[in-house]
Amino acid sequence: MIKKCLFPAAGYGTRFLPATKAIPKEMLPINSKPLIQYGVEEALEASCDTMAIVTGRGKRAIEDHFDVSYELEHQLKSAKKEHLLRETIDVINNCSFTYIRQKEMKGLGHAILTGQKLIGNEAFGVILADDLCINDSGKNVLAQMAEIYNRFQCSIVAIQEVESSDLDKYGVIDGVCIEDSIYEIKSMIEKPEPKEAPSNLAVIGRYILTPDIFEILKYTMPDKRGEIQITDALNRAAKSTRVLAYKFKGIRYDCGSNEGFIKANVDLYNKMKD
Ligand code: G1P
Repeated sequence: MIKKCLFPAAGYGTRFLPATKAIPKEMLPINSKPLIQYGVEEALEASCDTMAIVTGRGKRAIEDHFDVSYELEHQLKSAKKEHLLRETIDVINNCSFTYIRQKEMKGLGHAILTGQKLIGNEAFGVILADDLCINDSGKNVLAQMAEIYNRFQCSIVAIQEVESSDLDKYGVIDGVCIEDSIYEIKSMIEKPEPKEAPSNLAVIGRYILTPDIFEILKYTMPDKRGEIQITDALNRAAKSTRVLAYKFKGIRYDCGSNEGFIKANVDLYNKMKD
């Protein structure tokens, strides 16, 4: 069972400026709920009880969001509007939050390595909150992956098929299908040129990682952009141990892009109205 889930949340959110000048991009709302709360709810449903959040400068709003707010709660109670904060209070009451600050932005791999102190020596989930994943017809994506982890006890990445023109935005895997929707990874490459891409199977922001990844990350060199990539570390891990990729059930919205963010808002709003 995985019990901890790590949320890299130190990025600047430049694609959403000026909205993200003073608020973290993880706090941008999809139908009134901040993106990171969707992620935390997903991790809770997947049986995680500790949320390990890697933050940076200017991210205090995340800590405040997952904390009691006596004055506001009192006001809402007097106005008989407690239901407006019900889900958020449930989340706060059902898990613990731990935080560490990433001092420099040196890529997703570096953010995950920064979280080592919060995770310790156990397997853990990773959720990139701007990849919003919804599955209306069964378990959420991290819970689906946790089931696979319980069987195979190895690192797992979530994948989906993407258009070849989009492959240069993702980590892309080369794998062998070992059973329905599960691939054993032979290699993976971060943001390949279209002609270098080994498949059309792109990694999306859900991972389950075994703790040996931290040692590998320590020795993973930054790429040409100066970033330490989790894709490069997993590529190394896949050479010596089993690393799986799982084609998840559900829809993923790329809420790191304006288009995906707006689509998620429209879809979830329409669903709420139905
Ligand atoms: C990160 C990862 C990439 C993955 C993507 C999923 O990239 O580095 O491998 O495919 O998330 O959203 P980013 O979008 O942070 O550039």
